[in-house]
Amino acid sequence: MKTIVVYKSKTGYTKRYAQWIAEELNCDIKENPSLSDIMVYDTIIFGGGMYAGGMNGAKLITKNLDKLSGKKLVLFAVGSNPGKDKDIIPFWNRLIPAEQQKSIGHFYLRGGFDFNKLGTADKILMNMLKMHLQKIENPDEDTLGLLAAYDNPVDFTDKDNIKELIDYVRSV
Ligand SMILES: Cc1cc2nc3c(=O)[nH]c(=O)nc-3n(C[C@H](O)[C@H](O)[C@H](O)COP(=O)(O)O)c2cc1C
Repeated sequence: MKTIVVYKSKTGYTKRYAQWIAEELNCDIKENPSLSDIMVYDTIIFGGGMYAGGMNGAKLITKNLDKLSGKKLVLFAVGSNPGKDKDIIPFWNRLIPAEQQKSIGHFYLRGGFDFNKLGTADKILMNMLKMHLQKIENPDEDTLGLLAAYDNPVDFTDKDNIKELIDYVRSV
């Protein structure tokens, strides 16, 4: 079985997970893949950061499911949120049609947040979000955590987080 880990990463958190996964599976790895890059593989593991409730680059997989039929597909999303079901289940429901969710592996791995590493457009977006968050009257702990991360970068990446994904890939 030929396996590849492909990913898109803006500030390095998804990249770190992709490297750990490729090392563990001893397989190929490629950043910013095209469809032709992945067509020759049997198992394709795609990772992307979570951005405004979407997944960076996931269209490569989700818009090409017909062309990729017969391949084992695994997605991993990397965000700064704590990974609660209330956030993650709707996220996957938006991304993967319900009938495909059993056959496409999907995992959430917690990344981090580093405002200083963002490009200009993302900085503007995040500053708009910050103004909105600051107006919330009784912010919950996730909101407070996100606000604090603007001043102090947070990094929740942990190699242990890939275990479930690795077990899944080895089992299929
Ligand atoms: C404009 C913007 C939107 C974001 N939206 C989300 C989001 O909806 N959910 C989330 O958990 N994290 C969100 N994040 C945080 C990123 O997902 C997080 O920093 C992730 O680790 C980035 O991974 P990458 O550096 O590999 O792209 C957002 C960050 C930016 C800059």
